[in-house]
Amino acid sequence: MVDRRVGRILISRDEIAVRVAELGEAIGRDHAGRAPVLVGVLKGAVVFTADLLRAIPQPAAMDFMAVSSYGSGTRSSGVVRLTADLSLSIEGRDVIIVEDVVDSGRTISYLRRNLATRHPRSLSLCVLLDKVARREVDVDVDYVGFVIPDEFVVGYGLDYDGRYRELPDLAVLEPVARP
Ligand code: PRP
Repeated sequence: MVDRRVGRILISRDEIAVRVAELGEAIGRDHAGRAPVLVGVLKGAVVFTADLLRAIPQPAAMDFMAVSSYGSGTRSSGVVRLTADLSLSIEGRDVIIVEDVVDSGRTISYLRRNLATRHPRSLSLCVLLDKVARREVDVDVDYVGFVIPDEFVVGYGLDYDGRYRELPDLAVLEPVARP
């Protein structure tokens, strides 16, 4: 029987804050004179999206979509399903999809294709954590916070079975062997 517990900090709240500020500046520069729309992917990207919105120097809008790809375990099922749609029209807008983590790439690839059909002026991807070693589907990520190893990470919006989203740092979830 394997239990899990929150282990070492992989990325601290201070490191996150510095990187989010840099990403906000870069997005602001690349969208100068425009008011981009951040599309956060529920639920893991909520905390990151809220911080990123405030790090972009010009006015920006925010909306959310929900997809389901994981069950209650730690591995992707490979199935992506749209469970909640945007409330705004993105036609003619500069859209940035904001994700907490890219793993296989299936979710972001599905979302990019889905949003592209709605005729945005531009469409880019911003991801806090990129697990490049787990990629199964090719995706071009425009803004990457951190490339991380294949470890299960919780905190700063990321969960394990609905828990730990509230933790301010990104920490590794470690297996604990029980007798
Ligand atoms: C996670 C993450 C991405 C997806 C990445 O979401 O937020 O949406 O999995 O995996 P992929 O690249 O293999 O598709 P999760 O299903 O855990 O939902 P949550 O954001 O609500 O926690």
